[in-house]
Amino acid sequence: MDIDPGFLEFESRLSRPLNLKIPDLQHGGRLRHVLFASQFNLPLLDRLGKVADRIRTIAKSREGHRFLNSLLSHKRAMLYFSQPSTRTFLSFSAACQILGIACNEVRDPATSSESKGESPLDSIRMFSSYFDLVIMRSPVSQFAECCAYMMNELEQEDRRSVPIVNAGSGKDEHPTQALLDMYTIQRAFEFRHERDSSQWSKYDEMRSKYPNVRRGIDHKIIGFCGDLRRGRTMRSLAQLLALHQEMTMIFIAPKHPSLSMPDDLKQLLMDSGVRVLEADSFETPIGGVPVIEQLDCLYMTRIQTEHNSAQDKVDFAAIDFTNYKLTRSLVQRMKEYAAILHPFPRDKEFGEIPPAVDRDPRAHYFRQARNGMWARAALLAHIFDVDGAISDYYEDYTKRKPLAPP
Ligand code: NCD
Repeated sequence: MDIDPGFLEFESRLSRPLNLKIPDLQHGGRLRHVLFASQFNLPLLDRLGKVADRIRTIAKSREGHRFLNSLLSHKRAMLYFSQPSTRTFLSFSAACQILGIACNEVRDPATSSESKGESPLDSIRMFSSYFDLVIMRSPVSQFAECCAYMMNELEQEDRRSVPIVNAGSGKDEHPTQALLDMYTIQRAFEFRHERDSSQWSKYDEMRSKYPNVRRGIDHKIIGFCGDLRRGRTMRSLAQLLALHQEMTMIFIAPKHPSLSMPDDLKQLLMDSGVRVLEADSFETPIGGVPVIEQLDCLYMTRIQTEHNSAQDKVDFAAIDFTNYKLTRSLVQRMKEYAAILHPFPRDKEFGEIPPAVDRDPRAHYFRQARNGMWARAALLAHIFDVDGAISDYYEDYTKRKPLAPP
């Protein structure tokens, strides 16, 4: 995709440090545009996690479903995805449906007026004429950011302006994936179980086996494995995990300039107090113990071969990629409570997670994908200021219907 000449107009804003951009993306204490993972702080993540939990509980009953459905039935969303997507697209569209938002989509700019020479910025402005929200995925880094600045300018001129949500931009960011990943990790480390009672709880059982384990994300050892340079999901997630105390992150990737952990991200994490380690494989010993046996959480990624250069193809043929694939026997050596996540899609040819791992209780990736729907519904509820109404309904709902154990 060519860079839109309209980008030049936003150049001075695009080149600012992130902390100066964040206020431009808020409105009355709420997120208006969602572009960067670092727009989420811990209190907001906690709030969104609670709203997601409430939505999933309320949505179980027909009456609750009807209530949620009425909340934003006066809103319309455009899903503009000019890069392939299954989960992000479908979970956003399901999240919109839960809250009653009507959706429309453009998934291939070749079917829009862009094929007649219309600029992508004009396309977005047109979408904002018909819709109340634009959720967009683009191969071009910073395109969503330009769209948000364009919307801010329109607002200043008292013209129609709508929120922009980044559903994956180039190699840089995938903030809503990071949101659902954090929600999944938060839930995994609550150590809740349907059989929890006054006699037995999963947490107590884990504490008897691993006396140092604590509830919550602080103090955890997180592994990231695979394509750490071209994967935007890991980039966004690592920044949010870094908000927690005493975090250790172990990056497991081939030492190749197209795959290894980027230095700028490493520095950013170290500056936030994270203990950053790198490993060549799951067997690399750290403090005498192989990495795989130390992890509390493992975030697997696929090798994004669609971005390979001709040189990458030559170099990759000489790399032993078995070091970056899970097997059942590796998983069985992990801590019993460890959580394995993957943003998906997984690569069936490469096999970074073979289906033989799917039944292991440590496999959280299908649950993670479903969590995407609840977390994104919570985010939309926040943007449109209906999260308070959801909490009020939840209070009333749980008074009327005592909750079954979680
Ligand atoms: C990822 C993406 O598009 O960045 N997928 C996703 O949104 N769940 C990761 C990938 O394509 O490997």
